Amino acid sequence: MKLIRTENYAEMSLEAGKIIVDKIRSNPRLTLGLATGSTPKGVYDYLIQDHGTNGTRYQQVKSVNLDEYIGLKAQDPNSYHYFMRQNLFKHLDISEHHTHIPNGAASDLKQECLRYEQLIKELGGVDLQILGIGQNGHIGFNEPGTPFSSRTHIVTLAKNTREANSRFFNSFEEVPAHAITMGIATILESKEILLLVSGEKKAEALLKFMNGEISEEFPASALKHHENVTVIADRDALKYI
Ligand code: PGA
Repeated sequence: MKLIRTENYAEMSLEAGKIIVDKIRSNPRLTLGLATGSTPKGVYDYLIQDHGTNGTRYQQVKSVNLDEYIGLKAQDPNSYHYFMRQNLFKHLDISEHHTHIPNGAASDLKQECLRYEQLIKELGGVDLQILGIGQNGHIGFNEPGTPFSSRTHIVTLAKNTREANSRFFNSFEEVPAHAITMGIATILESKEILLLVSGEKKAEALLKFMNGEISEEFPASALKHHENVTVIADRDALKYI
C-alpha cells in the first residue's frame, strides 16, 4: 500500500486528479469506478477543469458508481444519479450510456444487483476505483459486519451513516434507510484503488485502517488484501499517523 501525504483537501484532490488523468491519457478506454459524497467532489472539479484546459477526452471512458440510495428516482437531487450528473458527467464529453449507477428505483432490486455485477464483468472489470471511507470504516455502503465475500447487494444503512449524510437532506427521517452497493469482493476486483481521506472527522477511521487489524467489523480493512491501493490523505486526516 502506498500513502501520499497532502497538506489539505485541495492538494489531495489535485494529486488524485492527476493520477486519474494520466490513466485516461494512457488508456482512453478506461473503466473508472466512481464515488459520491464530499470527498471526491474536488477531484471531479479537477477533471472538469483539466477537460476544459487540456482537452482530456472521455468519449470512450466508461464509469461504474459504487452505490445508490433505494427509493430515490434519478431526478431526485439527493440521488447519486443526480450528484454524478451535476458534479461530473454533464461537464465532460462522456456519453451517457457509458455511465453506470445502480438503479435504486428498480422494481426488482435483487435482479438489479445481479444485473450490476454482470455489467461490471462485461465491462472487463474496474480499472481504477475511487473510494472514500466512512467514519465507521464503510466503503461504498458496505457497513461494518458486511462479509468480505459480498457482491453487489442491498444494505440497511447504519444509523451513523444516515446521520452523517443527513447534512444533504432536510431531516434525518428523509435519509433513505436502504441502498444498493457494490460488494466488498466486487470492489476488491478493481485493478487499482485510490482511497481518498480528508479532514479530522476521518482521522480515527484512517488510523484504524492503517494500524488496525483486518476485520469485517471494519470494512475498509479488506483493502489490505489488495495489492494496488494508494491512500491519498490530507494533514487533518493524518492527525494520528
Ligand atoms: P464523504 O463520504 O465523502 O461524504 O465523507 C464518504 C463515505 O461515507 O464513504
